[in-house]
This record gives sequence, C-alpha cells and structure tokens, in this order.
Amino acid sequence: SSSSSSSSPSSTHLLRRSFSSDSNPDRKVAVLGAAGGIGQPLALLMKLNPLVSSLSLYDIFGTPGVAADVCHINTRAQVAGFMRDEQLGMALRGADLVIIPAGVPRKPGMSRDDLFNTNAGIVKSLCSAIAEYCPNALVNMISNPVNSTVPIAAEVFKKAGTYDEKKLFGVTMLDVVRAKTFYAGKAKVPVADVNVPVVGGHAGITILPLFSHATPKANLSDEDIKALTKRTQDGGTEVVEAKAGKGSATLSMAYAGAIFADACLKGLNGVPNVVECSFVQSTITELPFFASKVRLGKNGAEEVLGLGPLSDYEKQGLESLMPELKTSIEKGIRFANQ
Ligand code: NAD
Ligand code: LMR
Repeated sequence: SSSSSSSSPSSTHLLRRSFSSDSNPDRKVAVLGAAGGIGQPLALLMKLNPLVSSLSLYDIFGTPGVAADVCHINTRAQVAGFMRDEQLGMALRGADLVIIPAGVPRKPGMSRDDLFNTNAGIVKSLCSAIAEYCPNALVNMISNPVNSTVPIAAEVFKKAGTYDEKKLFGVTMLDVVRAKTFYAGKAKVPVADVNVPVVGGHAGITILPLFSHATPKANLSDEDIKALTKRTQDGGTEVVEAKAGKGSATLSMAYAGAIFADACLKGLNGVPNVVECSFVQSTITELPFFASKVRLGKNGAEEVLGLGPLSDYEKQGLESLMPELKTSIEKGIRFANQ
C-alpha cells in the first residue's frame, strides 16, 4: 500500500495499518441458503476473503453448525449463523452484499426452468426481506432459473420502491469459469491467462460464449469453436448427470460465486477497472435483462458494456437465444406481479 513508504512521524502507525486487513473498509456479506451444497463451500470461501468483515449465514436449517465450523478459521470476518424466518432480518440488516444460492437444484432430465415453481417463491420472499432490511445492498442471484429469478427480484424491489438496477446481478460467472477452462484445454494456452466473455443468459442455448473475443488468441477451427460452445452451454447438465440425482454443480459454483462477490466488493471499495460478466438490466439488446460485461464500482454496475463485434456463428447464436430468454424473463415478471 502507498502508506508503507511514508517517512512521516506516523509512519509506524501507517505501516501497521498497511499490513492489517483492517485497512479495508468494513463489509457485511450475507449468504442466503448457506447450509446448502453451494452455500457451505461459498461460506468457506467468503470467510477466506480479507475484504469481508462480517459474514452472515442464513438458511431455513443447519446454519448454527456451518457458522460454528467456519468461525474457527483465523481470518478477518466475524461469522454469525441465522435460521428460520424470524432471524432473516438480523441476518440481512446492514449487509453490503447479499448472495442467494437458496432453492432446489436440478436432477437428471430436468431443465433449469423445471425449478421455477419451487424457486420463484423462495426468491420472491427472500427479496421482500432484502427490500425491508438492506435495501441498498448489492444482490448476487445464484438461484435458478437465473433468467427468471433476476426479473422476479427486480419486480419485488420495484414494488417495494427500493429497486436500483445497478445493484441486482444474476451470477453467470460459472459459465465464464467453464468457458475459460474448456478454451485453455483446447487452445493449449495457460488457463490462468485466459479471458472469455459469456453473454445472453444462464440456461442452455441462452448461454453464449464469445470465443471470437477469447484471449490469448488461438487458431481454432469452426468445429472446435462449435464443440467448445456446446460444452459451455451443457456444462451444468454434464455435472447434473455425473452427480446422478445428488444435485448440480456446487464446488465450481461456490468458486465462481466467490470470485464474482469479490469483484463486487472490490467495486464497492473503489478499485478501478473491475469488469466481469453478469446478467443485469440492460439496453444493449431489445431484452430488458441480458448478460454481458459489466464494470463494477461504488454503486454496483456502473456500466453495462456492449457486445462488440461478433462472428457469424455468434450472431446466429444470439438470434436463436432471444426468444427463449424473452419468454423466461416474461415468466419471472408475470409471476412477481400475480
Ligand atoms: P441445495 O439443495 O444443496 O441447497 C439449497 C439450500 O437452500 C438448502 O440448504 C435449503 O435449505 C436452502 N433454502 C431453501 N429454501 C430457503 C429459503 N426460503 N431461505 C433460505 N434458504 C433456503 O442446492 P444447491 O446445489 O446449493 O443449489 C442452490 C441453487 O443454486 C439451485 O437453484 C441451483 O439450480 C442453483 N445453481 C445456480 C448456478 C448458477 O450458475 N447460477 C450454479 C449451480 C447451482
Ligand atoms: C450450472 O450451470 O451448473 C447451474 O445452473 C446448475 C444447473 O442446473 O445446471
């Protein structure tokens, strides 16, 4: 930090501060669904994040155990577990960021939309509580179907008079994580160097990785790009089938969720040039919500970046995804207003 080179009389104090995580502002993060398959490893990863000063773990059951376990880790965040409706307010009060992995996961043969009937209601009630107890918090929506749960959240916040489109994010980071991994394998480039934007939504063909923008550049054939696109789109199903009835991605999702939450916290803290993909309110297409690169800042999504030039294959993909994404968005809006 800049303070460590200071030679002023207070340099000892500044030096001490610069080595202390307390030099980061206090940030409270709440995880809703914290005892679940994603929630537990996400709680672990957020406890390891030095930007978090307070970690609030909420679920309908099981959080006392998760909190007791995670709180023994010798990192900055103070951990508290909250259980059942009557403690939801305490879990949320003062939160800067709320991460929502609450709800049921897929089993083989199901689509994400098959989760709508159960998860729409869960998301609606959790978002009502957010509007009441921490209306200024950023919200990272993980619960599926993301293409519908984000519009539901927006409608709930609008009704409560608390909606700020800059503060609501559908978490599509796992699609980016997958696209990076698969691209690195095929292109034979170091995975840590890879960047690939993924746009559209978070289900099947609505997931559109833009491999024409991938870096480092590689000379992949059209067939390779097609196969990489398909594998990214079907990544969730690949895990659901391998888990054979025991749920969907949890560990890779916790990783992706923790990376995205970290980016949001950095933005809040004023770190410049934090850009990640997310499903947000958008005007870059004719749809009201769309995933694309987003610049994160002190108010949340400070800027929604456009798609840039697309290959013919990506243009086709964009055209084919629009009707399904539109239907899923409208389904969410209708549900929230009924
Ligand atoms: P899980 O069943 O293991 O855990 C879900 C947790 O939510 C459970 O502990 C449950 O008690 C809790 N819960 C249910 N109702 C709640 C409520 N009203 N308030 C608080 N908590 C509640 O499921 P999982 O594997 O952790 O998946 C959770 C969700 O995340 C699913 O909808 C899944 O489809 C979704 N998911 C999204 C992505 C993504 O990329 N966005 C990736 C993986 C999974
Ligand atoms: C994923 O992409 O892994 C999640 O959306 C979970 C799922 O149902 O595939």
